[in-house]
Amino acid sequence: MTKRQNWTTEPWADSELLECAMVIPETEDCATIAFRAPSGAWFDYQPGQFLTFDLPVPGGTIQRTYTISSSPSRPLSISITIKAQPGSIGTRWLLDHLKPGMRLRAYGAAGQFTSLRHPARKYLFISAGSGITPMMSMTTWAWDSGEMPDIVFVHAARKPSDIIFKNRLEQFASRVPGLQLRFTVEQVEPFSVWPGYRGRLSQIMLGLMAPDYLEREVFCCGPEPFMKSVREMLGSLGFDLAHYHEESFGAPALQEVPVEPAAPAVAAVMSFAGSGKTAACDGSETVLTLAKRAGLNIPSSCNFGLCGTCKVRKLSGEVIMVHNGGISDDEIAADYILACCSRPQGDVTIDL
Ligand SMILES: Cc1cc2nc3c(=O)[nH]c(=O)nc-3n(C[C@H](O)[C@H](O)[C@H](O)COP(=O)(O)OP(=O)(O)OC[C@H]3O[C@@H](n4cnc5c(N)ncnc54)[C@H](O)[C@@H]3O)c2cc1C
Ligand code: FES
Repeated sequence: MTKRQNWTTEPWADSELLECAMVIPETEDCATIAFRAPSGAWFDYQPGQFLTFDLPVPGGTIQRTYTISSSPSRPLSISITIKAQPGSIGTRWLLDHLKPGMRLRAYGAAGQFTSLRHPARKYLFISAGSGITPMMSMTTWAWDSGEMPDIVFVHAARKPSDIIFKNRLEQFASRVPGLQLRFTVEQVEPFSVWPGYRGRLSQIMLGLMAPDYLEREVFCCGPEPFMKSVREMLGSLGFDLAHYHEESFGAPALQEVPVEPAAPAVAAVMSFAGSGKTAACDGSETVLTLAKRAGLNIPSSCNFGLCGTCKVRKLSGEVIMVHNGGISDDEIAADYILACCSRPQGDVTIDL
């Protein structure tokens, strides 16, 4: 066991590698990985935020973003909970290769999907699949903060054995009346009785699970079609969507944007000051794509302007950047851009 004196009073900074301390199997193809800071630093973040990791997979380093599933109320270690889908490269590598003692570079914590930004008396957490991770962090935080939580925790899974954190949540819920668990599954399993809900989340089910949903601050995380159906359901039930917050693990569905009459494409040059390389551009490609075409690597993870991994400094020129919160107003004012979602408008030079 780590000796008490090995911890320092310093918070972890992402310049220090994280050391894998434990790998805890959760469900099929899903595990929680706990990390510690070798220096003994502690972890300061907001429940619901994420980290981005460098993963040394065969063929080169790639970046992947994972929500922190632990709570900052337990600051001596930090955990992520990962689930690999068929065909996965990064998550599969973590599940198959990461062992206690190995060290990885991680960036963050970052993200705005946190109950701390939206204090409320009552919460409704709605998740599906690995979208349960931020809800686990926020629930543990609420529990540890010492106030009686008022959380209706709705989770949808394919089958009962796919429900991540089921035992831990039931342990929390067995001790206080304010945490109400509402699981729904699409299939039941042989040899065990399923006492919960069955089928996809519907308006009728939601009314039974959380009759006072109109009074609750809602946090939702899961596959895009799931979140879309929750959004539409709440909207059609008269819920004020100013109190609805969601986190996407993949690129959000493209929205129909009214298109201006097409301006003739202008040939321009994207320049990379550090390497002296250039790429021709016409405003249709992102800085990330142009860098790749010039033979340069800008680390990137989400590719939709959320994680902040691809931040670079613009030295001159204009870009159109459509991001999802991965960059702050101060950084924009200091001429930083997210390469994955910025398109040059004319000649642009970046510091790469
Ligand atoms: C803010 C945020 C938080 C997140 N939190 C979590 C979390 O808590 N837990 C978690 O598990 N994940 C989380 N994710 C998702 C995670 O970052 C990865 O995107 C996800 O795990 C997929 O990466 P991968 O390496 O597993 O799969 P990848 O290798 O990126 O592949 C993704 C999928 O694409 C398909 N694919 C891959 N290569 C090809 C190909 N050549 N042709 C066709 N299809 C292909 C595969 O079917 C695969 O399932 C989060 C993402 C974001 C943005
Ligand atoms: S790769 Fe995530 S913001 Fe660009």
